[in-house]
Amino acid sequence: MSEELVKEIQKRRTFAIISHPDAGKTTLTEKLLLFGGAIHVAGAVKSNKIKKTATSDWMEIEKQRGISVATSVMGFDYDGYKINILDTPGHQDFAEDTFRTLTAVDSVIIVVDVAKGVETQTRRLMEVCRMRNTPVIIFVNKLDREGRDPFDILDELENELKIKVVPLSWPINIGSKFKGVYNLYEHGLDLFTPSKQTISERVEIDDVNSPLVDELVGKDDSTKLREDIELIDGVYPEFNVKEYLEGKVAPVFFGSALNTFGVKELLDCFVKIAPSPKPINAEERTVKPEEEDFSGFVFKIHANMDPNHRSCIAFVKVCSGKFERNVGYKHVRSDKVMKFAAPTAFMAQKKNIVEEAFPGDIVGIPDTGNFKIGDTLTSGENIHFKGLPSFSPEMFKYIENADPMKSKQLEKGIKQLMDEGVAQLFTSSFNGRKIIGTVGQLQFEVIQYRLLHEYGAQCRWEPMSMYKACWIESEDEEALESFKKRKHQFMATDKDGRDIFMADSNYVLQMAQNDFPKIKFHFSSEF
Ligand code: G4P
Repeated sequence: MSEELVKEIQKRRTFAIISHPDAGKTTLTEKLLLFGGAIHVAGAVKSNKIKKTATSDWMEIEKQRGISVATSVMGFDYDGYKINILDTPGHQDFAEDTFRTLTAVDSVIIVVDVAKGVETQTRRLMEVCRMRNTPVIIFVNKLDREGRDPFDILDELENELKIKVVPLSWPINIGSKFKGVYNLYEHGLDLFTPSKQTISERVEIDDVNSPLVDELVGKDDSTKLREDIELIDGVYPEFNVKEYLEGKVAPVFFGSALNTFGVKELLDCFVKIAPSPKPINAEERTVKPEEEDFSGFVFKIHANMDPNHRSCIAFVKVCSGKFERNVGYKHVRSDKVMKFAAPTAFMAQKKNIVEEAFPGDIVGIPDTGNFKIGDTLTSGENIHFKGLPSFSPEMFKYIENADPMKSKQLEKGIKQLMDEGVAQLFTSSFNGRKIIGTVGQLQFEVIQYRLLHEYGAQCRWEPMSMYKACWIESEDEEALESFKKRKHQFMATDKDGRDIFMADSNYVLQMAQNDFPKIKFHFSSEF
């Protein structure tokens, strides 16, 4: 185990910020970059954002996603740490992308709007975090606006996100009367001055009962603060870092990203408590980051939307050892050795060619169709990383060839788009028809457009009414066969040939679950 490697690993913090659109993810990201010196003016990350006005115009969204390649991973140095923020698309139709990005991070910051509380997208993303026991910190944003009572928000976070919470800072009033936060973690008072660029003033106090508090925030607010803190002490357990690292408790901060308020406190606590890269389970064994041999996996493939340059960038998360430019690595699925002359890393919003990368880092590799989501690269060992599940899609259509002369192109296009993870392909066992499953309507349009422009193939969609596709298995071979026979019409296979049950309604699914207790129904491909 080399000392250099261990040191590099310990200073890495690789995480994603997730939120429901509009809660303030982009703003918070930008402010974190400001602290890291990665950008110098507010507003620089905006191009990363899918504008709300364009939500029905997917081409615009794709273009903006194209721009966001550069900001897909944002690396910067802060206080001796190397921080990698993995961006996740805000638009819910790209939720699958976000799910996969979550497989490449070691922790997560969730942004919640104080007025809106927990919203749908946040709830869904938290489910993925829970599945993986990802450590989570919550930032309650927009305290400069009128919002809900912070105790209500904490209750809602706990109930809706199904995780214990502990406040580490506490707001003094809210909205137009917002005065700042009391830092319960470090015992300081951060006074609020609305400003987009400057950082608020911190007053160190030993005790919340100090008369200085009355002086600074006024008698009424200081009394309320003391009452609140007494209540917090009574209701919430002391924050325990170990529980946080196990994904059992989420610390909560309050602030206003737009006003750069509470952001530094969040970041300072984050670098201290958030995990550095952890061992990762592969099918064969557990891979530790400190191992000398390099290993990594592809968690995202970003296609270039320019039809003249049909190239992609495969995003590889380094899991162990040191990745080096121009060194031959084994692409385990094809059993081929590949060298990469122009791997890129993303520092300070610039894409640069890198000579080396360490566990926790993300390397972008230009690709012309060799990579598939979930592929592993290693120094030679055959390793298959687990933890890149597909999730049950929610929208389904039959895909048909609209140009019989181009069936080969269509097949190739579908295969490559599925490898990129744009959607999921199922083949009906009943009639052999191909079914595409997605999490949003936009993907159908994206697929049709890309098939035509990149592969010269034309497809046609035919509606099908379907509720959910789930993976099935059973220890009882006979029971499985008999189920498949009974439900022949509703059976399909996924791209790996695994059995899929396609339920056309929730009722049908529930009946099947009741009637066939020996069959296990799974809503993600990894079980
Ligand atoms: P998202 O990436 O999660 O979708 O959210 P984003 O950061 O873009 O924030 C959504 C809106 O909320 C933006 O306003 C942003 O300025 C605002 N916002 C973010 N943090 C705060 C905060 O702490 N206080 C207040 N009052 N507003 C906040 P917008 O008008 O939609 O966009 P823009 O015109 O400001 O860019």
